[in-house]
Amino acid sequence: MPLQMRRLLYKYGEDILGSDQFRQAFGQTHHKCMTVADHSLGVCVVCLYICLVLEKIHISVHVRDLTVAALCHDLGIMGRYEKYRNNIECCGRHPVDSLDCIRDLIGEEEYSDIIENSVRRHMWPLTPVPPRYREGLILTTADKVSAVMERLGRSPARGLDRESILRLSPAAESFSSEDLDLPV
Ligand SMILES: [Fe+2]
Ligand SMILES: [Fe+2]
Repeated sequence: MPLQMRRLLYKYGEDILGSDQFRQAFGQTHHKCMTVADHSLGVCVVCLYICLVLEKIHISVHVRDLTVAALCHDLGIMGRYEKYRNNIECCGRHPVDSLDCIRDLIGEEEYSDIIENSVRRHMWPLTPVPPRYREGLILTTADKVSAVMERLGRSPARGLDRESILRLSPAAESFSSEDLDLPV
C-alpha cells in the first residue's frame, strides 16, 4: 500500500479504526472467508486507489467522507444472525443499520449527505436505487472488487498490519488479537 494511501487511511479513519465497534468487527465473519473489519479495510484500500487514479485526471473526491463510508459501510452487519431472519433481509437492512453505527461513531456534526447516501445505496445493483454521489459509485464498485478478490484469496487489505490497527483501540491493553475469532 503506497505511503500516501496509508496516510489518508489514518488521517481520516484513525478514530474509527480505534473504536470498539471496529475492533469487534474483527470477530464477525463475512463473505464466509473474511471478517467484517478485514473486508471493510479492503474496500477502503480499493476506494483510496480509485481516488488516487481520479486525482490524476483531475476528478475530485471527498476522501474523508469516502474513507468513513468505506470503513463503516458494513458495520450494521454485526450481530446479523440475531438481527436478521435471512440473507435477503440482511442485504436490505444492514446499510441502514450501518448508518446508525456511523452516527454513533462520528456524531451528527461530522455526518454528511455523501456518507448517508453512499452507505445507504452501497448494495446497488442488488438493491434497486443507485448511489447519488460519485463517492457512492466508488464505494459500491470497491465493495464488489474487494469481495471478488477475497474469494480469490487476495484481499486488498492483506498488506495492512492488523496489529498496528488493533493497537489504536483504547481497550487494546486489555486484549490480544488471539482473543478474537480471526481467519489465519
Ligand atoms: Fe454491505
Ligand atoms: Fe461490503
